[in-house]
Amino acid sequence: FAVDWDPGDAEKGGYDHFMLKEMVEQPKAMMETLMGRCCESGVTFAGLKLNTEMMKNINRIQIVACGTAYHAGMVGKYYFEKFARISVETEAASEYRYKDPIVDKNTLLIVISQSGETADTLAAIRLAKERGAWVLAVTNVVGSSIAREADDVIYTNAGPEIAVASTKAYVTQVGCMMMLASFLGELNGKMEKAEGSRICHGLMMTPGLIEKALETQAVIKAFADKNHKIYDLFYMGRGVDLYTSMEGSLKLKEISYIHSEAYAAGELKHGPIALIEDGTIVVAVCTQENVFEKMLSNIKEVKARGAHVLAIVQEGHQDIATEVDEVWVIPEMDDDITAIPTIVYLQLLAYYLAVARGCDVDKPKNLAKSVTVE
Ligand code: G6P
Repeated sequence: FAVDWDPGDAEKGGYDHFMLKEMVEQPKAMMETLMGRCCESGVTFAGLKLNTEMMKNINRIQIVACGTAYHAGMVGKYYFEKFARISVETEAASEYRYKDPIVDKNTLLIVISQSGETADTLAAIRLAKERGAWVLAVTNVVGSSIAREADDVIYTNAGPEIAVASTKAYVTQVGCMMMLASFLGELNGKMEKAEGSRICHGLMMTPGLIEKALETQAVIKAFADKNHKIYDLFYMGRGVDLYTSMEGSLKLKEISYIHSEAYAAGELKHGPIALIEDGTIVVAVCTQENVFEKMLSNIKEVKARGAHVLAIVQEGHQDIATEVDEVWVIPEMDDDITAIPTIVYLQLLAYYLAVARGCDVDKPKNLAKSVTVE
């Protein structure tokens, strides 16, 4: 009597795919990220060398990363500017390293990398260090090349990520960006203590909010089963919802091979709206109160061209149902933390569409988990 036993399956802990297992691990991963750093009184990073004195000499912040980590960098830019009132450039490492960037001893370079081994990101660090910049790495892998070469390190503490499509690493990178924004805001005196507490309070709610997102799997799967034969899918958002859209669109492309675009909602009419046809699915991410009405007008624009609109809104905005074809209502939360729970809905959407299309979710064609060559 022999039992077929695949060690790979055993590691999946009963889940069909590593990606699903890792999505389900996100509440715990987020808890690990916040632990010991985020409390009601604000953010602390034990062991970080960057301090108030050093910040006085910093006149430029750059965030450099690749792929999913680049999207976390876009969220970072948004919140550094909002909370710390520092202007930030976020750039893909493959662009940064070849363009003679403006970087010197007064620059703080923040790099983000799950693996800590991405060749372009590593090259960006070396270039910036040669020119005297202070390099702070946000990475998941202790002792990785990027962790070793940076001047300062913040670990995301997401635990090992196996699936090529990054999920728990992304939410923890975003968590780190938000803590860092709040931390820098306090260091440079641009943020009130009460604001810092509000953000920390919000961040501490995120593990529970991710749980809630995971509970909606059946609804998302049903949507995917019904719509998996589509050729393309559009995402649109404003403010931080744009970056969530970009990451959602990347997830979809990576694992389902469905063509997808993510656009700033106000930019649709400058081009991509030409591609909307009868029945084209448009996911409208609408979690931000300050631009909610603007999103509504953009929804009307695409509806008028025949789009099938799926809106993602916070509780309290269910009445958008009269304007769209489908609504996913997420719990009510502080607008400044929606980037974390909202991406989980889009990860699940990409996942269930890929599964319905019979794709090899954990090992998508042409992609590698870690790109250690140029
Ligand atoms: C590869 C992976 C992506 C990842 C990117 C950056 O392309 O497939 O999921 O976002 O590399 O990787 P890093 O390890 O630097 O975050």
